[in-house]
Amino acid sequence: MPSIIIEHKKQHYLPNVTEPRAAELYALLRRRGGVRRGALWNGFPTWVVFDDALARDCLRDPRLVNDARAVPDAPHGMPGARYAGDLVSVLRNPLSSDGAEHRRLRASITPLLSAQAVRRWAPVVQRTVDDVLRRLQATAHADLVVAFARPVAETLAGELIGIPESQRTRVLRLMRLLSSAAPPESPQMKAAATEVAHLLDEIANGAMERPGRGIAALLADARLQGALHCQNELVDMLAAAVFAVLDSTTATLSTGALYLLRDESARERLRAGGEEADSVIEEVIRLACPFPTSGYRFATEPLRIGAARMERGDIVCVSLLAANLDPAVWADPLRVDPSRALARHLSFGLGRHYCPGAALGRMIVRSALKGLFALPGLRLTDLPGRAAPGQPYRYRQGISRYPHRMPVLVGQR
Ligand code: HEM
Repeated sequence: MPSIIIEHKKQHYLPNVTEPRAAELYALLRRRGGVRRGALWNGFPTWVVFDDALARDCLRDPRLVNDARAVPDAPHGMPGARYAGDLVSVLRNPLSSDGAEHRRLRASITPLLSAQAVRRWAPVVQRTVDDVLRRLQATAHADLVVAFARPVAETLAGELIGIPESQRTRVLRLMRLLSSAAPPESPQMKAAATEVAHLLDEIANGAMERPGRGIAALLADARLQGALHCQNELVDMLAAAVFAVLDSTTATLSTGALYLLRDESARERLRAGGEEADSVIEEVIRLACPFPTSGYRFATEPLRIGAARMERGDIVCVSLLAANLDPAVWADPLRVDPSRALARHLSFGLGRHYCPGAALGRMIVRSALKGLFALPGLRLTDLPGRAAPGQPYRYRQGISRYPHRMPVLVGQR
């Protein structure tokens, strides 16, 4: 079956909600059965599910597992390490594990993501947002990806995880590259994976020697207590935490800011504050959906999803964004409607692998977007040399897809 997932410059991708064809494409894919076979951004042949009800079934189906090792002989299985130091395909973290191993790895990070822990993070988040917005306000022209979404995400990844200042810029730059769509076997990616594995190893060792209060310290303690079984697990958990904070925050803040800049009524309700403002943010998280697809699931036996037949070993993932735009659940899905039953969206996943960082993610997005839209006179402007104002033109593709640049004017007209 030919793939109708969009292909551009030999890369396959599913559009971000702010791209012109997004809603129509997802509607078409749903009308055509809601399950298609294609290759996503990194080239793995994958079934993708586009319908909300089928997506929920898949995320709960015990025959679809997260650990590729469960189907080692399968024809379409994920490759193991593709080269020495291949961090991305061999990570051992909750998203690549099942059963008792999954529960153990997940439990090593959840204490710092509980509601109580999230309240303790609030001052760090607020201070970070305030600093970034103070710098943003001092300029008349700015790029919201470069001057808002990225610095908030990078500072918070450094602070929440506890990456020492001396290693922060390098680690975060390398992790950004590794979550991009650069070919995994390219010399650049291999070098980045090797270097970041070395740096994370150093950070892990430092965290085991010195007490601290971030995620690295918590994971180091789990290693010392034996809950993490080896250094490799500790390093892989650290890498997963950096990916989780960095990519989710950058993508939600940039896509969310663009969506709000184009929707005056949503902006006004956000500025009004109170519960309605929190509901606007929840709608923004539904629409911005920073991880447009779930992680990979592997079929442990032949099965049917909708009209599609899958073989043992086939890779399946769920288009979380397509489910969030399914009109069977969301009337007028592109509209920001704070009166909806909001918790039902799939931006944080569903089932066993539901995001344990959801409360922290929500708090970060609320604080940053409320702060941003409290700035007076913020508005989209042209990219130099381009015609239509407000068009971001290019999107950064990788684990998440979000606007590459977003020029704005800051301050009173
Ligand atoms: C807006 C922010 C965020 C969004 C939208 C988000 C989304 C998601 C999604 C969709 C999944 C499940 C993927 C799947 O089932 O294949 C997930 C899992 C996960 N997220 Fe988040 N995330 C966010 C923030 C965070 C933060 C701040 C952390 C903190 C470290 C975090 C840690 C994790 C972990 C460890 C998993 C794996 C859970 C498991 O497999 O059991 N996330 N996230």
